[in-house]
Amino acid sequence: MSDKVTIHELFDKKGRGEPITMLTAYDYPTARLVDRSGIDMILVGDSLGMVIHGLPNTTRVTMDMMVMHCAAVARGASQAMLVGDLPFLSYQVSVEEAVRNAGRLVADGGMDAVKLEGGSEMVPIVEALQMAGIAVQGHIGLTPQSISKLGGFKTQGRSAEAARQLLDDALALEAAGCFSLVLEAMPDRVAGLISHKLSIPTIGIGAGVECDGQVLVTQDMLGLGMAPKFVRQYADAAEFINAALVAYRDDVLARTFPAKEHTYSMTDDEWEAFRASVNGARQEG
Ligand code: KIV
Repeated sequence: MSDKVTIHELFDKKGRGEPITMLTAYDYPTARLVDRSGIDMILVGDSLGMVIHGLPNTTRVTMDMMVMHCAAVARGASQAMLVGDLPFLSYQVSVEEAVRNAGRLVADGGMDAVKLEGGSEMVPIVEALQMAGIAVQGHIGLTPQSISKLGGFKTQGRSAEAARQLLDDALALEAAGCFSLVLEAMPDRVAGLISHKLSIPTIGIGAGVECDGQVLVTQDMLGLGMAPKFVRQYADAAEFINAALVAYRDDVLARTFPAKEHTYSMTDDEWEAFRASVNGARQEG
């Protein structure tokens, strides 16, 4: 069994031009599977609000939800580096709250690092988390916690001015101490240029192949979630699971499940003694 992936290995991979792999997990069994597949990083994303809890966006995800899902993932993964998302309003209100909440994801949730959304305005928060010894991954481009400000789930950085802002944000977050940056939903050329300008690894989602690594929501790539343009579906797990559920229902209706091999037995002697006690009790009554 190899050791846990570290920040140094991620930097080495960037140096060698070797892509970094990241997927989401929100629960113990998925964390075990993702970890076993040799993926470098597992993100306990606040996307769990939509994917697991059926919420319309990520803004109603709470710290308590994140800590519970992080702890479940941490119990299932031993090798991948674990990154936990700081949810909406857990870090924007004050530096003190940001440090306390990030500390919860590490101490109670078992995360190796935290992720937060936002550009240069997040510099004081990133610096404070750094000072507290907490590794921070930044997240720019389409930042779902700000969808009302962004006007929906829209591609970012399409104008020269917006692309320049993304680059400035990326450089500011790197200077503040982020160990990595998620680049979400932006033109591939913009993400490629940012990736080349930064010395920290970039992880893209809907940001093209020039990023230093890629991340997807696991449910999306398994065919259990959404299918935006940037997702490649690697399995049709919904179809697979649905076939199993229908087969189970049909077996129960036909009384072909449970079969002999799914059934517990008792010895004939015990059975006879039991029946005699039931019949005896009936006669006495
Ligand atoms: O919450 C999440 O899953 C994310 C990824 C989409 C990067 O932030």
